[in-house]
Amino acid sequence: MSSKELIAKFELFLKAKLPVVESFHPHFNQALGEMLDVGGKRFRPLLLLSVVESSQPLLVENALHVALGLEMMHTYSLIHDDLPCMDDAALRRGHPTLHVSYDETTAVLIGDALNTHAFYLLANAPLSAEIKIKLVSILSSNSGIHGMVLGQAIDCFFEDKRLNVEELTFLHLHKTAKLIAASLVMGAVICELDKTIQEALYQFGLKLGLLFQVQDDIIDATLSSEEAGKPTHNDGHKNSFVNLLGLESAQEVKQKLLLELDGELEKLDAALSHRLKSIVEAYFKG
Ligand code: IPE
Ligand code: IPE
Ligand code: MG
Ligand code: MG
Ligand code: MG
Repeated sequence: MSSKELIAKFELFLKAKLPVVESFHPHFNQALGEMLDVGGKRFRPLLLLSVVESSQPLLVENALHVALGLEMMHTYSLIHDDLPCMDDAALRRGHPTLHVSYDETTAVLIGDALNTHAFYLLANAPLSAEIKIKLVSILSSNSGIHGMVLGQAIDCFFEDKRLNVEELTFLHLHKTAKLIAASLVMGAVICELDKTIQEALYQFGLKLGLLFQVQDDIIDATLSSEEAGKPTHNDGHKNSFVNLLGLESAQEVKQKLLLELDGELEKLDAALSHRLKSIVEAYFKG
């Protein structure tokens, strides 16, 4: 299955499994699925599903439940990231953000709901209990206090306070790279791939995640908001790669990471390496 086909499969699954909550709240249910439904690149589910497909294609169906949980976790992080107290963004995935369409209370609570429901999906996925406990552990640590939440806290606290390159790397490894690395490892855990492969995937994923954030920072500096589907030129107060290093050096960091990724891929078997290389090419070349 190509990446395109895997994403199409994921989109169908997402539409079928969007949570439905019946209550007399006028818009809770609509707001709950809205940011998931309006799109996004689905980069993290694609990584997870690609690892599964290249090793145990018959497990892709089971893995979809986990991929959806992962995308919910990511989508919650975006909803909170856009809040007025964080990045204050009115547009996401080409659509008005929840605090704009509804109100801040709704955006905070829908974020909370997607965060918790992600673990519901993992806990109820058609996989063994042992595998599911590992998945819960990986997702929670890489998105929570040892990962994305810590990164977001540093990102927001240090607005207008310049970090050094080592701190900048720490920030982006936590904010973005760990969840991306976790996506790959979760695929490996579903297939029960051995520890050395999991570790190689995690190291590859951390570099891929840094690359992802460098590119995101370049997008902020170079694209229009229509092209990006979110406000751009919005990182003025941030410790972004572009702000700290300049656009040209950020481009160089991107090229350097692309080369380093090739080296990391050599540690994986040919099928997986080929698969991941094609994703890197599709998302980062040009
Ligand atoms: C944006 O993530 C936030 C970052 C970690 C840079 P994506 O660029 O994956 O956003 P979507 O999912 O495609 O909307
Ligand atoms: C956010 O990074 C990363 C998250 C953990 C959500 P950004 O603030 O740069 O993401 P965008 O540019 O708003 O998508
Ligand atoms: Mg942010
Ligand atoms: Mg933001
Ligand atoms: Mg950004």
